[in-house]
Amino acid sequence: MEKNFLKTNDFSRAELENIIESALKFKNGEIVDKPLAGKSVGLVFFNPSLRTRASMQVGVYELGGNAVILEPGGTSWTLEHRDGAVMDGNKTEHLAEFVRVLERYVSAIGVRTFAHMENWEEDRTEPILSAFARYASKPVINLESAMHHPCQSMADMMTIREKFGKKKKRILLTWAWHPKPLPMAVPNGFALAAAQFGHDLRIAHPKGYRLDTELMTEIERQTKENGGSLEVVNDVNTAFEDIEVVYAKSWGSKNFYGDANEDIRFRSSLRNDWIVDEAKMQRTNEAIFMHCLPVRRNVIVTDGVIDSPNSVVVDEAANRLHVQKAIMAKLIR
Ligand code: CP
Repeated sequence: MEKNFLKTNDFSRAELENIIESALKFKNGEIVDKPLAGKSVGLVFFNPSLRTRASMQVGVYELGGNAVILEPGGTSWTLEHRDGAVMDGNKTEHLAEFVRVLERYVSAIGVRTFAHMENWEEDRTEPILSAFARYASKPVINLESAMHHPCQSMADMMTIREKFGKKKKRILLTWAWHPKPLPMAVPNGFALAAAQFGHDLRIAHPKGYRLDTELMTEIERQTKENGGSLEVVNDVNTAFEDIEVVYAKSWGSKNFYGDANEDIRFRSSLRNDWIVDEAKMQRTNEAIFMHCLPVRRNVIVTDGVIDSPNSVVVDEAANRLHVQKAIMAKLIR
């Protein structure tokens, strides 16, 4: 088993299935173990959170451990991550010391570090998450990085499994209009995990919003290896035909990366079409509606859809707790 939990494709399908089996057992009370008794877990948040922070803190507690929450630049020092940096600016501490000191106290480190949305080539290399993994000898858990949100992706796969069982499903990952460009970690991670679990995946986005090329190649490879399929479409209306799971998310274009105003101008004509509404859901095969949350109502999805019986967004968020407990129980010794 891999030491860290940075992205789902570091793990085999069997290992991922095993995590979901454990998560289901944690959820139904079949597992009540306290593997973190007497242990602490560091949770480092460079960015805001409701679900990830609360579910990790509660999860560590329920496993018998203690969560140490740190917010660089807020409740802890500002952090430099670049090798060889001359630290005469506004960064007080280097990750080299931060990580190696913190892990003397804790048994694992969770880290949330969003894409900076300035330089695509830099963001796609996960500079900060990679530095954590490089300096740490204890497990590092990705709580959303520039490119992946694997705990979310696993909660998503668990939710689909709960609703439908183990059979593969016809899944739509649809881009949605949002007033500003957002990072790609959630759609990247969801598409990759759906491919690893062998689903038939359709990705719908306007022209210009294609996901990372290398990642798309990996998604295609995973669908083939796991008995699923991959289709990319640019027509939002036909995209919903015959679909069983609708997963909505907005993301920014690589074409305008670092220039939010240009992306905002480009997407201005897309607002009316790229929203998940009742008419589009009618075209599906009674699909469930999923979103990682937080979501902008009546922008990404209408009230009618998110408040409908087919919406599973709250179950999906609840599953973060169970799946993260399963991940921590596997990784932390
Ligand atoms: N889905 C998710 O990660 O939510 P938070 O940003 O609130 O943690």
